[in-house]
Amino acid sequence: MMEKTLLIRYDEAETIANLDTNDAALMQAAIDAARGAYAPYSHFHVGAAVRLTNGTVIVGNNQENVAYPSGLCAERTALFAASAQHPDARDVEAIAIVGINQQGVLCEASPCGACRQVLAEYENNQHHPLRTLCYLEGGRIRIYRSVADLLPFSFTF
Ligand code: THU
Repeated sequence: MMEKTLLIRYDEAETIANLDTNDAALMQAAIDAARGAYAPYSHFHVGAAVRLTNGTVIVGNNQENVAYPSGLCAERTALFAASAQHPDARDVEAIAIVGINQQGVLCEASPCGACRQVLAEYENNQHHPLRTLCYLEGGRIRIYRSVADLLPFSFTF
C-alpha cells in the first residue's frame, strides 16, 4: 500500500475589481441573479452566471419548492438553461457563483456535490477547462481553473 496525496489548486482575487473585465461582469451577473432567487424556505439566495465560449452569458438562481427535493440549485438552473437554449454552443468557459445569506449579505455558496457532478460533465465534453469563480465573504473571489479541482476522481464511463 502506498499513501498518495492530492493537491487542490485554486487562485484567489482580492476583489471583483481584480478580475478581468469578462470575469468581473460574470460575477456581477451572478450577484444580480441571486437577488431574483425563489428561496422562500431557506431564505438563502444563490445566483450563478455561465459564460459560453462564444461570450453568451446565461444566469440562474435557486428555485425552491414546498416539496423540498423538487427545488434546484442556482448552478444547475443556469447550466441546464444554457444547454437548453444553446445546444449547438454548449461550450462553457466559466461559471460564477454567489450566495446572499439570511442577513442579506453577499457570501460564499460553494457548489454542492450534485452541481459539481453536472459541472464535470460539461467540462468532460469539451476540449478546455471550465473555470469556477466563487464569491467569498468579504468580497474575495476563489477561482478553480478546472472542475477536476472541485470534483477529483469524478464518475464517468
Ligand atoms: N443552493 C444552491 O443554489 N447552490 C449551492 O451551491 C448550494 C445550495 C441552494 C439550494 C437551496 O435552495 C438553498 O441553497 C439552501 O440550501
